[in-house]
Amino acid sequence: MVSRVIPVDPFDLVIFGGTGDLARRKILPGLFRRFCAGQMPPEACVVGAARADMDTDGYRAFVGEAIAEFGGDIANDTENLGAFLQRMSYVSIDARGEKGWIELAGLMRESMVRAFYFSVAPGLFGDLAERLNQHGLTDADSRIVVEKPFGRDLATAKELNRDLAAYFDEGQIYRIDHYLGKETVQNLMAVRFGNMLFEPLWNSQYVDHIQITVAETVGVGGRGEYYDKSGAMRDMVQNHLMQLLCLIAMEPPSKFDPDAVRDEKLKVIRALDAVEPHHIVRGQYEAGEEGPSFREEVNDPRSRTESYIAMKIGVSNWRWAGTPFYLRTGKRLKARCSEIHVVFKELNHSIFGEQEDHRNVLSIRLQPNEGMTLGVTIKEPGPGGMRLVDVPLDMSFADALGADGADQTDAYERLIMDVIRGNQTLFMRGDEVEAAWAWTDPIINGWHTRGDVPKTYDSGSEGPVDAVQLLARDTRVWRKVSS
Ligand code: BG6
Repeated sequence: MVSRVIPVDPFDLVIFGGTGDLARRKILPGLFRRFCAGQMPPEACVVGAARADMDTDGYRAFVGEAIAEFGGDIANDTENLGAFLQRMSYVSIDARGEKGWIELAGLMRESMVRAFYFSVAPGLFGDLAERLNQHGLTDADSRIVVEKPFGRDLATAKELNRDLAAYFDEGQIYRIDHYLGKETVQNLMAVRFGNMLFEPLWNSQYVDHIQITVAETVGVGGRGEYYDKSGAMRDMVQNHLMQLLCLIAMEPPSKFDPDAVRDEKLKVIRALDAVEPHHIVRGQYEAGEEGPSFREEVNDPRSRTESYIAMKIGVSNWRWAGTPFYLRTGKRLKARCSEIHVVFKELNHSIFGEQEDHRNVLSIRLQPNEGMTLGVTIKEPGPGGMRLVDVPLDMSFADALGADGADQTDAYERLIMDVIRGNQTLFMRGDEVEAAWAWTDPIINGWHTRGDVPKTYDSGSEGPVDAVQLLARDTRVWRKVSS
C-alpha cells in the first residue's frame, strides 16, 4: 500500500530554541523526513533562533549533524540534505531584549503561513509572544506552537493562557502533546468511530474496566533537575495519559473537527472523579544493573517525587459510571510498552458449564510494534470435549499494511504539518489543559499536605508491589508489562 503525501503550502517556520535538545532530536530530523517525503515544499523556510552566537552556515552544519545523529536512514540522502539545508537560516536572538528581532522580522515573507515554535522554557512564552507582537509578526497567518509542560498547576497554566491570549487568538495557539501525534493514538479514533463493531459495546454495561499503561525502561537520566520538580503525575499523567483516557472515554463527536473533538474530551476531564488517596500508588526506583537510584539521579537523598504512579479513576457519566480506569506509568520498568486494554465483562451465563474465566479483551498497542489484538474465546482444538481457550485476533499494522503499517512517521513531524495546515484537532485547547490541572492539583496538594512518601521499587521490575494490590482489591490483575 502506498501512502499519499499531500504537500502543505509553503511556510516560514521559526524554531525558538533552535539549538536545543528537542530541535536536534525531533523537530529538525522530522522536518527533513517531511522534506524527503515531498510534504515540506522546497519554498518553505526554517529559521533557527536561539541565544547562541552562530551564523547561518554554522546552523546548517548543526542541522546536518542533528540529522546524521537522529535522522536514521534518511541521513544518507545527501542530495535532499543539501537542498534542505539551503532552506535553513539562523538568527541569534534575545527573547527578553532587542537583539535579533529586526533581523528575524526581515526574514519573514509576506502572505505566507508563519509558525513560531516555542521550544523553550515556559517562562519565556509570554516574552516571545510580546516580542512577536511588537515586531508585527502576529497577523492572522501567524500561529504559535508551545511545548509542554504547559504550567505546573492550574494557576500557572491560567497565567500562561492569559499571556498568550494577549496577542494570539485560541485558533492560533497549538499546544503540543506529542502522544496525540502517535499513529496508533489517532487510530484509536478510527477504530472507535469508523466501525460498527465496537461502539455499541463501548460502555459500562459491557466493559468491566480499562487499563492504560505507559511503561519506560529509561530513568530520568540527565533530566533530574526538571523531573524532581515534576514527577510522573505532572510529566506524564496530567497530559499524555489523560489524553489517552479522553480518547477512550469520550462520546462520539459529531464530526472529526477540532472543536467537536476537543469539546468531547473536555467533557470527559470534567467528569473525572476526585481520586481517593488509597486509589493511588506512587513509587521511586532503586538502583540496579540499569543505573543509579532515582534519588541519586535527581541528586536529593530525601526526594519524595514519584517516578511511578498507578491509580484508579472513576468517570462519572452515563457511559462509564461503574467502570474503573486504571492508569499506570513509570520509569526504569521491565520493558518499554504503551498499551491500552479494554477488558470486557464476563458472559452473563455460560452454556458450557464450569469453565475458567474467559472474557474478551481489546488490546491497543501504541509502542513498540503498533497494533491491536482482540482476545476471543474459541474451542480448544482436538478431542477432549468442549474446552474453551482464549486466542488473539491479531492485527499488527506492519503485517496488515506492509511497510506503511510500520512507517511510523514521528509524532512531531506529523503535528508540525498539522500546524502548517491549520488543523488543531490533535492539539490541546486552553480550557482542556486547565481542566486537566484542576483535576490534578488536589491530588498533588494532598500528597504534600499528608507528607506522602513514594514506595520504592526495583529497577527492571513492574513497579511497586502496592500497585498489584490496587487491582487485587477489586479482584482484577494488571496485564503484563512486556515488549
Ligand atoms: C515526555 C516526558 O513528554 O514523554 C518524558 O517528559 C517521557 O519523561 C516521554 O520519557 C515519553 O515519550 P515517548 O514518546 O517516548 O513515549
